[in-house]
Amino acid sequence: MIIESVKLVYFSPTGTTRAVVRGIARGLDPGNVEVRDITLPDARIEPLQASENDLLVIGVPVYRGRVPALLAGWLHALSARNTPAVCVVVYGNRIYDDALIELGDILTQRGCRPIAGAVYIGEHSLSTDDVPIAPGRPDAGDLFHAESFGRKIQEKLDAIPSADRITDIALPGCRPYRGDSRLQAADFIAVGDACIQCGICAEVCPVGAIDPEESRRIDTAACITCCACIKNCPQHARSIKPGSVHDMSVRLHALCGERKEPECFL
Ligand SMILES: Cc1cc2nc3c(=O)[nH]c(=O)nc-3n(C[C@H](O)[C@H](O)[C@H](O)COP(=O)(O)O)c2cc1C
Ligand code: SF4
Ligand code: SF4
Repeated sequence: MIIESVKLVYFSPTGTTRAVVRGIARGLDPGNVEVRDITLPDARIEPLQASENDLLVIGVPVYRGRVPALLAGWLHALSARNTPAVCVVVYGNRIYDDALIELGDILTQRGCRPIAGAVYIGEHSLSTDDVPIAPGRPDAGDLFHAESFGRKIQEKLDAIPSADRITDIALPGCRPYRGDSRLQAADFIAVGDACIQCGICAEVCPVGAIDPEESRRIDTAACITCCACIKNCPQHARSIKPGSVHDMSVRLHALCGERKEPECFL
């Protein structure tokens, strides 16, 4: 089938999902490419519309084994008509549970036809130099995998005459989905004296939880613990302070050291 436009959509506070989705796109043979980075709040105001001549490639990180809860509103406002869709989730080498099947279900409800799905590993949001968890992922091997996955999607599209000939794909996971995707409020960020109030942390926060004038003022009820502010601070002034979130990162470091590999479903 002929794809006129590829819509690349990702939510990616610390950049690993973005890297994977862009890697997949390198294997495709797109006409026109439209990138919708929905990480920042303003980008999640306008809903996405897609037609059967588009290919939607959508990637989200796994939060608590699920699609991040804060994306529910935007994803459920998406409007598609028989649009072939590639569902991608990126997890921090712990577990992805029901995130991929959940993303596939949401897209199907919104009018998409999932044509492929994949699971990749990204450096864990809580990973630090001292307590690394899947550091540097996706690495060159992961991105090579992503590009060849993109080529397989292209081959599949080339072999299908039209979107209504797409057959259902089986994505891993359980229904009803396990667990609770809502996050606990956490006051876990320490801001040191190196802070120069440059405002970058506030600019990269996906939920607008940081006061742009005073980086120490954080709306902890809104914070989703994504660590974008910590990883993007040019002064390395932000860190995870001792407490339950730090304890969790130490546990993940101890338990999730064994390398997991990407999986794809076509
Ligand atoms: C609130 C939260 C929950 C997470 N839950 C999981 C999880 O259940 N399993 C896992 O392996 N990684 C989990 N992670 C790690 C992220 O899925 C992983 O680091 C991902 O690569 C982040 O994507 P990004 O770089 O696009 O922000 C979680 C991260 C956060 C912030
Ligand atoms: S990014 Fe770092 S230096 Fe800039 S305001 Fe935030 S904490 Fe301070
Ligand atoms: S304040 Fe919370 S939600 Fe905002 S960037 Fe930092 S960790 Fe992420």
